[in-house]
Amino acid sequence: MAESPKLSQDSIVGRLVVEHGLCTSEDVEKCIRLRRKQSEESDPNQHSLASTLVIKGCVTKRQLERLRPKIEESKTTQQIPGYQVIERLGAGAMATVYKARQLSLDRMVAIKILPQKFTNNPQFVERFYQEGKAAAKLNHPHIVQAFDVGQSGEYHYFVMEYVKGHTVYDDIVKMGKYPEDRAIQIIIETSKALEHAHKAGFIHRDVKPKNIMIANEDGTTKLADMGLARAISDREAAEAEKGEAFGTPYYISPEQIRGKQDIDFRADIYSLGCTFYHMVTGKVPFDGPNPSAVMHKHLKEDVVPPDHLNPSLSAGIGEVIEVCMAKDRKNRYTSTSDLLQDLEALCKGEPPLQARNRFDLPTLAALEATGTSESHDVTAATIEVDQSSKSPLTRQMLFWLAIGGWVIALVLLVLWIVS
Ligand SMILES: Nc1ncnc2c1ncn2[C@@H]1O[C@H](COP(=O)(O)OP(=O)(O)OP(=O)(O)O)[C@@H](O)[C@H]1O
Ligand SMILES: [Mg+2]
Repeated sequence: MAESPKLSQDSIVGRLVVEHGLCTSEDVEKCIRLRRKQSEESDPNQHSLASTLVIKGCVTKRQLERLRPKIEESKTTQQIPGYQVIERLGAGAMATVYKARQLSLDRMVAIKILPQKFTNNPQFVERFYQEGKAAAKLNHPHIVQAFDVGQSGEYHYFVMEYVKGHTVYDDIVKMGKYPEDRAIQIIIETSKALEHAHKAGFIHRDVKPKNIMIANEDGTTKLADMGLARAISDREAAEAEKGEAFGTPYYISPEQIRGKQDIDFRADIYSLGCTFYHMVTGKVPFDGPNPSAVMHKHLKEDVVPPDHLNPSLSAGIGEVIEVCMAKDRKNRYTSTSDLLQDLEALCKGEPPLQARNRFDLPTLAALEATGTSESHDVTAATIEVDQSSKSPLTRQMLFWLAIGGWVIALVLLVLWIVS
């Protein structure tokens, strides 16, 4: 039998007061028993659970008032046609995610409910539906599958695969940092998800530890929120997070900060580099007292090399992160497949050749220009090279450098003999 509206409101209130730590589940049980007794005795003065909790001193009126928006939102989630909402899984800066049963297919799903403030913007709603539908066409073992988008009352929602597990962010909080080999494995799986999305013309735009989930069952990586960030312009998203303790733009690319219109897959590579950095060092690449300060550092500051924070790191990891996080996207990997090649090499304990090639050219160019081997501070911003011509060019430069060295040595020898 379906729950009466009053009883279902009671169960929402009962769940929320406990979830928000306002009282214990024993308090709620006690008040529910009292309420049931009143109901059985057909007491004309019977109260709702909310009022009973206040009368019994378990919560204050003010606390209940503050909980009111959450109660309203929960009432909405109970009315999503075709789904039975079971519990709240978590909330981010923008939305709340619930676990639910899809009645037609009798399967668990996760439903993300967007806050009402977005509903007032028709452009946002349109983009949200477009992207949600497009994302539902992607199918990959490392992407959280998008199922559906819809509207219930004043709320818009996004239905997706339910992942029984936790996020990479949860692990970082718990462990400080990841062991190197596990971090590489997770970044490889996430890159595979991105490679698939990029080939289908998708850009994630919000790659970060909170959007990488790890399934409890087999430790598989699942990239979440594909197709969601696009609905909100990047700057808007970053600015909406102002003043929040979480969600500061630690992983956003310089071009997203600049509000560029032609964001491409390289923005995801930058964010993945920042995520990798955080995973192996336990620190975000750039920190600051507020989002603007962090964004400013993404634009202007050099990152502390990851092996300075974690000296036990293999050399190759720093090189891969450095190429992912190049400020000028021209100096990042030229495709997600190239990045994957380097990650697979790291996995086998081999050097990351793609990164090394990208790094070699500017270094040699700088060597030629300054005559010093100390110059690691080359941004390579001006050197755009065709991949196919890299190796012969590098060999040629090495050849001439070697000849130069021999000539100098010869001259010194002759001078020494003469003197
Ligand atoms: N498909 C899913 N299956 C299971 N749990 C999920 C799923 N998607 C999200 N969650 C849980 O819900 C939480 C909130 O997700 P949400 O995407 O709203 O915010 P976020 O990514 O953590 O943070 P932000 O708002 O900064 O992007 C996640 O941290 C995760 O624990
Ligand atoms: Mg998310």
